[in-house]
Amino acid sequence: MLVTTSHDGALQCRRITSADTAGLAALFAALCEHHDYRLFHPHPLTAETAVSLTEQHSCHHTVLANRDEYHAVVDQTAGSVVAYGMLRGWSEGFEVPSLGIAVHPEHRGRGIARQFMQHLHRVAIGRGAEQVRLKVYRHNQAAVGLYESLGYTFTPHGEAEWLGIAHLATRARLPVENSWSTRPHAA
Ligand SMILES: CC(C)(COP(=O)(O)OP(=O)(O)OC[C@H]1O[C@@H](n2cnc3c(N)ncnc32)[C@H](O)[C@@H]1OP(=O)(O)O)[C@@H](O)C(=O)NCCC(=O)NCCS
Repeated sequence: MLVTTSHDGALQCRRITSADTAGLAALFAALCEHHDYRLFHPHPLTAETAVSLTEQHSCHHTVLANRDEYHAVVDQTAGSVVAYGMLRGWSEGFEVPSLGIAVHPEHRGRGIARQFMQHLHRVAIGRGAEQVRLKVYRHNQAAVGLYESLGYTFTPHGEAEWLGIAHLATRARLPVENSWSTRPHAA
């Protein structure tokens, strides 16, 4: 899937590969610098994790063993990773995958998360999922607003979090346009 923008060249949503190790490590470092590990902590946000994630997806044998999906939005011009997301749980035998997403602090507010979420929903549908789940801190207004606008419904999960569920809509199964426009940087 190609995302085009007049400001930043072509952005592409796709599964991570061994070519993304450095870009993913740089994204994790930026998220840590921005203290986003307090909102997004699916695993340690370290260079070592970036290596292990991208190696997993480059080795055919391990891909078969690990049935989860790890994706990125890549700026093909800059060669950088501007967002990272995953659908997990299949490897452990769950039917409904858990979604997680983070956008580079410098690329927020441009519609990247919304389009990346739609990409991940299509990946989930392609894998046969009818629902997606996620956990989100109640005070994370940006993420809660995004998920609500995409049709997630919430129930309490402990005192601090919501458990969100989305029923993947039939219309999301329709063919998707090949290019979308992102908003320019707010600044
Ligand atoms: C949450 C996050 C993924 C949003 O990424 P983004 O690319 O800035 O989001 P988008 O530009 O696609 O915005 C999509 C929607 O999110 C909501 N949103 C985004 N930023 C917002 C903000 N600062 N305040 C309130 N709502 C916001 C809005 O509903 C927005 O829709 P709109 O632009 O039509 O109003 C990003 O802020 C992030 O990576 N945060 C840190 C990691 C994190 O919290 N991940 C989620 C863990 S559950």
